[in-house]
Amino acid sequence: MKKLIAGNWKMNGGLAANDMLVKAMLDGLKGAEPAADMALCVPAPYLAQLQSLLQASPIAWGAQDVSAHEQGAYTGEVSVSMLKDFACRYAIVGHSERRQYHGETDAVVASKAQRALAAGITPIVCVGETLVERDAGQTESVVKRQLAAVIHAVAHCTSEIVVAYEPVWAIGTGKTATPEMAQAVHAVLRAQLAAATQHPQRVHILYGGSMNAANAASLLAQPDIDGGLIGGASLKAADFLQIVAAAR
Ligand code: PGA
Repeated sequence: MKKLIAGNWKMNGGLAANDMLVKAMLDGLKGAEPAADMALCVPAPYLAQLQSLLQASPIAWGAQDVSAHEQGAYTGEVSVSMLKDFACRYAIVGHSERRQYHGETDAVVASKAQRALAAGITPIVCVGETLVERDAGQTESVVKRQLAAVIHAVAHCTSEIVVAYEPVWAIGTGKTATPEMAQAVHAVLRAQLAAATQHPQRVHILYGGSMNAANAASLLAQPDIDGGLIGGASLKAADFLQIVAAAR
């Protein structure tokens, strides 16, 4: 299975800057077979732009969130069918910034994942502990609780999700989990998936949290780290491409 390197632009970008960034990435990929599967998860207003820049390229695109509702009176929300209109392959669900600043519960995250899968969009389900939880020895119980809610909701489709382990204390802080720390949690998640699906090895379990060009290779060398969810470093073409190359 090829590794998956997914960028999460968060609330960054602009038409002109996106155009330059994506073209620089595509230029850098010319000629060689890409070392990993790739995706860029961008703010919803730029999905049309990414679709036009990336179609017929090796980079897929996706959203950073999706509504748990099908349609109707939900001001500001974006539905799965809207994401489908722009041929999104992925939608991040349950990013810690959504859980933390927008009050998303495990139950909400689970319905979002279910809604995405039902529409043929692969949810990238984020799980991760805060520093307080880690210090209290709760890392395993927190990530298992978060993943269990999604497994319960998507049931026999569990092998079709992507999981991203993102320790909250490592996101955007420059503090990365060591490869050993990350691997330990990935192994826990793999075991949990194995209890829910016959094909736990088919599920990409990504690491996210200050992954960059310098630390990517050692993280990606771990047996249960199947790729990365990249925030800051996905805003620089050279850094993103170096992480992709490290996935070989
Ligand atoms: P970071 O973000 O790479 O900037 O730490 C990762 C994420 O939040 O997905």
